[in-house]
This record gives sequence, C-alpha cells and structure tokens, in this order.
Amino acid sequence: MHSHFICMDKTIKITYNDKSFDFDLLKGSENELGINIKDLRSKTGLITLDPGYKNSGSCISDITFLDGEKGILKYRGYSIEDLANKADFLEVAYLLIFGELPSKIQLEKLKNNINEESIVDEDLKVILKSFPKSAHPMGVLASLTSALTAFNPSAVDINSEENMFEAIVMLLGKFPILTSWAQRKVKGLPLIYSDISLPYIDNISQLMFKRPNQKYEPNPVVTNALNKLLILHADHEQNCSTSTVRIVGSSHAGLFASVSAGISALWGRLHGGANQAVIEMLESIRSDGGDTKKFMKKAKDKNDPFRLMGFGHRVYKNFDPRAKILKVSADEVLKELGVTDPVLEIAKELETEALNDKYFIDRKLYPNVDFYSGIIYRALGIPTEMFTVMFALGRLPGWIAQWREMRLNNEPIGRPRQIYTGPTDRVFTPLDLR
Ligand code: ACO
Repeated sequence: MHSHFICMDKTIKITYNDKSFDFDLLKGSENELGINIKDLRSKTGLITLDPGYKNSGSCISDITFLDGEKGILKYRGYSIEDLANKADFLEVAYLLIFGELPSKIQLEKLKNNINEESIVDEDLKVILKSFPKSAHPMGVLASLTSALTAFNPSAVDINSEENMFEAIVMLLGKFPILTSWAQRKVKGLPLIYSDISLPYIDNISQLMFKRPNQKYEPNPVVTNALNKLLILHADHEQNCSTSTVRIVGSSHAGLFASVSAGISALWGRLHGGANQAVIEMLESIRSDGGDTKKFMKKAKDKNDPFRLMGFGHRVYKNFDPRAKILKVSADEVLKELGVTDPVLEIAKELETEALNDKYFIDRKLYPNVDFYSGIIYRALGIPTEMFTVMFALGRLPGWIAQWREMRLNNEPIGRPRQIYTGPTDRVFTPLDLR
C-alpha cells in the first residue's frame, strides 16, 4: 500500500487558555491540505464538532480522488472518462481493489476465481422465500448479503492477504446472483445461477433478464450501457455507504457484514435511492398531465418543498463528470433500443428547461448521475425499485477496495466523540411515584 501523505513544514497553531498548540499540516498527492488533529484531545482536552463530516477526513486513502469544483473524478489516478469509455468493469474492479490495472493473466485468474465462487447455498432460497413479494429489493439484498456470513463463516476472520482475497472473490462471485434473485422474487421468475461461460457483465444481464421460456442472447447495447453504468458507480471516496462499510469493518466484522451495512446506507433517498426518486418524480409529472413548466415553477418556489430530483449535488458544484458521460450514453441507448416512452420525453424536456433556466444556472444545479442512470435503467427494462440495487452492484468493488485498504492500514476502530447536551445529575424517582 502507498498510503502516505506529505507532512508540510508548516504547522497550524491553536491557542486555548493562553497556551499554544501546534498541529501538523498535511498534503495529499493531489495537493489537498488538512490539519492532523490526531493528538488534539490529548494535548488540549478539546474535541471538534462536525455533523455530517463536511470538514473532516476520516482516513487517508489511495483509491479515489474527486474535485467537486472542477468536476474531476479519478480511480487510482485514471480519469473516469478513460475508464468508462475504454475499460471493462472487472478490470476497473481489479484496479480499485488491488491498485493496478490487471495484466491479461491476472484478469483471467480473477475471473476464474470468481467463477469458482459463482454459486450460493440452496438454503439461501429459504430465507428469500420468507420475504413478502412486496419487500423492497434493497432490504432483501442487505439481508441475503449478511446471511452469506452464516453460510461462509471462514470468510469472517481475516488474518492474511490470502484470507482477504478469498472473501473478496466469494463476494464478487455471489453478489450478482443475490441481486438477480432480489429482482426475480419480485417478478415471480425462477431463481437461476451464473453462466460462467459468459463475461462478467453478460452474466449479470442473463441473471437479470433471462426468461425460463427463452434462450438468452446478450445484447451489445445492454452490455455496453451496463458496463459504463457500473464503472461510473464503482467508487466515490468516503460517501455515506462507503464510510459505513469502513466503520463496520473497523470493528473486524467480516466483509459480508460490512458490505451488508453499506447496502442499507445506500438504500436511502438522499444517497443511492435518488435514482428511483427521479423516475417516480417523472411519473408523477406525467400523471399530472405532463406540464414540465409547472414543476419547474414549483422547484423554484421557496414555499414549495418540491425539488427537481436528479439535479444538484453536495460535492459537485460545477458538473458531475459521471452525468456528462451518461448523458451521451442515455441518448445512444434510447436511440439504439428504439425506446419511446412518455416519461423519458418528460425527462428530456425538464433537462433542456433546467439547463437554460437562470435559477438553475445561478445555483450551479446540473443534472447529476442519478438523473441519467434512472433514464437508462428504465430504457433497459429494469424495474424502478431495482435501480438502487444496480447502484449497489456497481459500488461493490469500491466498498471492497475501501474495506481492504482500511484493514491493510490497520485502521483503529471507528468511534466518534460527541458534545453531550442532555440533563445532568437527576435524582431517580421510583415508578409508583412518577
Ligand atoms: N431543485 C430545486 N432547487 C434546488 C435543487 C433542486 N434539485 N437542489 C438545490 N436547490 C437549490 C436550493 O433550494 C438552494 O437554493 P437557495 O440558495 O436559493 O436557498 C440552492 O439550490 C443550494 O442547494 P443546497 O440544498 O444548499 O445544496 P446541497 O449541496 O445541500 O444539496 C442535493 C445537494 C441534496 C443533492 C440537492 O441538490 C438535492 O436535493 N437534489 C435533488 C436530490 C438528488 O438528486 N439527489 C442525488 C444526489 S447524487 C447522488 O447521491 C449519487
């Protein structure tokens, strides 16, 4: 692992109670600066308060760099544009997890190892069966991923890089099966297994789309679109779900339990759930008569809680580089598949109106990755409630890479502090006197 930073010869001074304390200024490889407050409490007795961690780094990391002001995203130093247009998802997964692009032999070995693990215990079906059909597939996926621990207890105690590798390929092999089962359950389709003769992405497509009464033929338009979508979602540094994976893993819970927690974090509408919210918004505009101007007005009205879902981003204040790539891809996919869908027409109208509207221009509100990913998933025939599951499928290598880095760096258990504001020193009153 590289995981180093440059300690600048400058320090930051904090003065408190007439005493001055020095803290190191650190610089990362892309020149990001930070104050190392590791010894703040032991030196000063103080802690920092930063809800939402808007200003706090939780780790040093070699995996992903993003610059929200300039709209830059890179995995291990490679631009997202290059990777999305030239690489294969499994190559990117290898790059994220192990730090380098694989040679042909390394990639083939990974694929063979994944193929070996592309099977799940039949008893997992019993768990799946006990869920109601109406269960959200993200909840189902989190449960099945967590259950993998019970079926593969050897993957919990990670004491060597070899143990780690075994747990990683197990998850890369089994996860696509679980995601497809979550969808097949909703649709009432038979639960099927991986076809190891297919490339990783085509296998994912057959797991999702294969019908019991038809031979599955991979469609290159679907393969390319899925490859791009999964690469673009593969990592995004210390976001909510990734931080969850790292913090759960920091207690030395196993990889599957840590990723299961990440899936739960991703489910929320403020995070991965936004792609589902986009299509639901477009559908409600359509059922209201399709007047996009009316909804643009609502989005700009400060007395109306309505927001244009799929627009704006916490980190990207210029443009979301992933959205830029997917906009081109969305146009191609719609054209190549010959999809005409009134909801997608509404999406295009909203996009044009927002991009030319002063309110959106002034606030730097551009369509984000979830705006276009929702549109493409819908055109591919993926049910709306599965969109966030697709996000999870893409994010898996990122979660794994971040978990692996955290373990290899021997990071301490994650345990934030707090400023307590509750009552102090109350006298207990027995129940019959209350
Ligand atoms: N529609 C209308 N107005 C908006 C929108 C929107 N989607 N997003 C932001 N604004 C306005 C705000 O009202 C605010 O206006 P003001 O300055 O006049 O008060 C201004 O733009 C700045 O917005 P903030 O809420 O301060 O921006 P923040 O960074 O906190 O929020 C967020 C970012 C949550 C993504 C927001 O833009 C939003 O709610 N977007 C819709 C939901 C969405 O698409 N989420 C997916 C994000 S991508 C992802 O998670 C992978």
